[in-house]
Amino acid sequence: MSTAITVWPAARPLRGHLRVPGDKSISHRALLVAARASGRSRINGLSPGDDVRHTLEAVTALGAGVEVAGEGAGGGKDVYVSGGPERLHEPAEVIDVGNSGTGIRLIAGFAAALDGLTVLAGDSSVARRPMDRVVEPLRLMGARVDGREGGRLPPLVVRGGDLRGVDYTLPVASAQVKSALLIAGLAAREPTTVREPVATRAHTEEMLADAGARIEVAVEGVGSVVTVHPGPLHAGEIEVPADPSQAAFWAVAACIVPGSDLVLEGVYVGRARAGFVGTLQRMGARIEVVLEDPSRHTADIHVQAGPLVATTVDRADVPSLIDEIPILAVAAAQAEGATRFTGAAELRVKETDRLATTAEMLSALGVRVEPLADGFVVEGNGGAPLNGGSVSSQGDHRIAMAAAVGALAAEGPVRIAGWDATATSYPAFEEDLQRCLK
Ligand code: S3P
Repeated sequence: MSTAITVWPAARPLRGHLRVPGDKSISHRALLVAARASGRSRINGLSPGDDVRHTLEAVTALGAGVEVAGEGAGGGKDVYVSGGPERLHEPAEVIDVGNSGTGIRLIAGFAAALDGLTVLAGDSSVARRPMDRVVEPLRLMGARVDGREGGRLPPLVVRGGDLRGVDYTLPVASAQVKSALLIAGLAAREPTTVREPVATRAHTEEMLADAGARIEVAVEGVGSVVTVHPGPLHAGEIEVPADPSQAAFWAVAACIVPGSDLVLEGVYVGRARAGFVGTLQRMGARIEVVLEDPSRHTADIHVQAGPLVATTVDRADVPSLIDEIPILAVAAAQAEGATRFTGAAELRVKETDRLATTAEMLSALGVRVEPLADGFVVEGNGGAPLNGGSVSSQGDHRIAMAAAVGALAAEGPVRIAGWDATATSYPAFEEDLQRCLK
């Protein structure tokens, strides 16, 4: 059932300290790494969203043992996962990934390494997302993978086992595809090399190395080359840091609500994940990153309100802020001048066509947006109030939360239909908003 909320213009600044939920990307990987690793792992601070719950259920269906250990930081759970290749088996039922593109693509790589048949399906949004990018290289590795339209669309049917290593150049910079191949590569006969044109988030390489895999990473210009050697993983303790993609909503909120002064605690700021910070700095934002634990790439991000100016975001920036473009577009709407986002055609195949849904959301708030084939130009209003009114998430969690932040800077209330989409990644967003505004 779809629910709506109404967000009123901020009557007070956002202040204090906030710990956003555990990182969604890292949480998916933590569950898959722990399921593959021999022994009992502990994962602290999993993302509390539905996407990660589906991956937790998936690893259980694939043979891992999962027990809840307690309430973790940021609203998620701490869990024990008992894993190892000897425990894993084909699932008895279709695995439901819910709304998660990361879930279906990563689990396809995981299932390719298993003897047996795995069927993966999701909701109506997942059913529209391109799978050929992961199906084609997994077939090159020797897995038998099929789906609708010859493997282009879910559901996916994966018959895995007996893989060969490949040397594969990604046609699109995608951490999901890189990760699927690296996870499958753990069980191949030879090493697997993945070449990416622009470096994407490095969680899988970092986490596999921590779990004892032999991994080599070479940076080549703006791209990277990652090689994984086949081998076992060992169990361990995985701390999930706070999610930079969620922190970005609060960072922009604190920039645009006058008088705000907010600290976002323990946020992952490692490679290709925190590009929004640099973008906001180029826009003149008062945002500072104070490294907390350099070995874990975590930092406190301190943001104070202040005027913003337009900037440009292009192809080389996009992988480092791919999910933050809707909320950066809200920042751009409040800046002086026109901000141009290009090289972002990938946004057309996210939970929604985010080039279209971001533009529609901003238009509903009175912002002028000029569409481009691979991006858009947002006309900033120099910090004047946005229009109140009515917007729809269109079933996309990030559009719902970006609209809520825009509403804080509006002249009247904004009704957001389809708010329930936030359960995908951040069920307590509304609660955290009330807390920051107290
Ligand atoms: C993700 C990678 C990105 C991102 C997605 C999460 C990941 O997708 O948009 O939300 O966890 O690897 P692509 O890798 O397809 O760009």
